Amino acid sequence: MITFKKDHELVNMRRAGQIVAEVLMGLKDLVKPGVSTGELDEWVEKYIRDQGAIPSEKGYRVPGIPTPYPNSICASINNEVVHGIPQYERKLKLGDIISIDVMACYNGYHGDAAFSYPVGEISEDRLRLLAVTKNSLDIGIAQARSGNTVGDIGFAIEKYITGQGFGIVRDYTGHGLGRNPHEPPQVPNFGRPGRGVTLKPGMTIAIEPMVMAGREEVVTGSDGWVVLTADGSDAAHFEKTVLITKDGAEIFTPWK
Ligand code: MF3
Ligand code: CO
Repeated sequence: MITFKKDHELVNMRRAGQIVAEVLMGLKDLVKPGVSTGELDEWVEKYIRDQGAIPSEKGYRVPGIPTPYPNSICASINNEVVHGIPQYERKLKLGDIISIDVMACYNGYHGDAAFSYPVGEISEDRLRLLAVTKNSLDIGIAQARSGNTVGDIGFAIEKYITGQGFGIVRDYTGHGLGRNPHEPPQVPNFGRPGRGVTLKPGMTIAIEPMVMAGREEVVTGSDGWVVLTADGSDAAHFEKTVLITKDGAEIFTPWK
């Protein structure tokens, strides 16, 4: 069921979103060669709990995966698309790219966002992948207003990404959220104008383009969680939680 949030619910969602945005901006200084994804996870969990919130991903269960998610962030490096499990043995290297996806729950309401970081100086190709994926999120958010549909968001993202010569992840989508980390409607990063659920004020959705430099196919890794590009090409992921209002989208996770 699509839920329309009341003002007191929006207060909590704004706070959850703010915490997630602070985490993602704080990580800019921590992401560097030699740091492990386990250490990044540890920092994020403490930061979220220090704000009186709970890391939503820890213990989260997804249909079809037998094990609960073990950590407070998803940390996906290079050819990993999403759901990379943090590890102390996994250290970032100069030239890597890493996508970090964070959710926090404040007073029963969730915020969800992701950011893809360069690790030091990176190749021109990787720079372009990050820039294009980030732009595609803005292009999607520009369609997020009352009266438009989820198809308008997906179409705008898809048209831009494929026009840049990149591939879109079609097996995973954006989503509604609120009391639950994932609620209807699905918000695919592809679609047709005017199709799908119509957006109305009070709906809160996470828009999250996942983009591949190569072929549009993903595979799941042996831990049952990590999603990788099938051809080994690089991937990037940016995400924000937004509220649909009369005149557009209010950003709940204001990272820059
Ligand atoms: N935060 C992710 C999203 O954007 C969901 C991660 S599920 C987890 O929807 F279990 F891996 F954390
Ligand atoms: Co999400």
